[in-house]
Amino acid sequence: MQPTVIAPSILSADFARLGEEVDNVLKAGADWVHFDVMDNHYVPNLTIGPMVCQALRKHGVTAPIDVHLMVEPVDRLVPDFAKAGASMISFHPEASRHVHRTIQIIKSHGCQAGVVLNPATSLDVLDWVLEDLDMVLLMSVNPGFGGQSFIPATLDKLREARQRIDAIGKPIRLEIDGGVKPDNIAEIAKAGADTFVAGSAIFNAPDYAEVIGRMKAAVEG
Ligand code: DX5
Ligand code: ZN
Repeated sequence: MQPTVIAPSILSADFARLGEEVDNVLKAGADWVHFDVMDNHYVPNLTIGPMVCQALRKHGVTAPIDVHLMVEPVDRLVPDFAKAGASMISFHPEASRHVHRTIQIIKSHGCQAGVVLNPATSLDVLDWVLEDLDMVLLMSVNPGFGGQSFIPATLDKLREARQRIDAIGKPIRLEIDGGVKPDNIAEIAKAGADTFVAGSAIFNAPDYAEVIGRMKAAVEG
């Protein structure tokens, strides 16, 4: 199992003060910045692109930037995000015609590669690519919006994903995204996640350090 990572999703941050918001969550104990990219095509919402990622780097953010692509097609955006300072890039297999090729493109640009599975997508898509991945991201809500409720069936899926990762014995992260809160993070961790995205639970809280601290204590306790 990898060390715990808390990755606040900036989807729920105040975009008018994005640099300051990111500085504040990192100061409050966050490990990564989760960067949700939506294209109004693969998902019914529209957010931010490589320019904003680059702006965060220029602002002085040195923490890993975890780019979650909810876009179709995927491949042509990869070099732009790599240049803009992305540390890891994850994509939805339904949005890429050639999943193996997309993983290779991400890695050849010097980023870590992740595959994201929607709530109704089977773990079987990992069958022939798991060894090539740095991260598996399970969606515990349908992608497109922050503030939705955690889908409980994801716990069984996490347990199965954890077994598959442990079976090949590689340091592949298991990330969970959607509806993660201080009061459910302990059972999500017990099911096998080591990397936790949380948007509304962190950015809607009055005290970022307090909520991130509570989440870490719940995972480690
Ligand atoms: C949803 C995004 C998530 C979202 C999570 O498509 O991928 O990262 O911001 O938000 P919460 O934690 O509020 O469910
Ligand atoms: Zn996300």
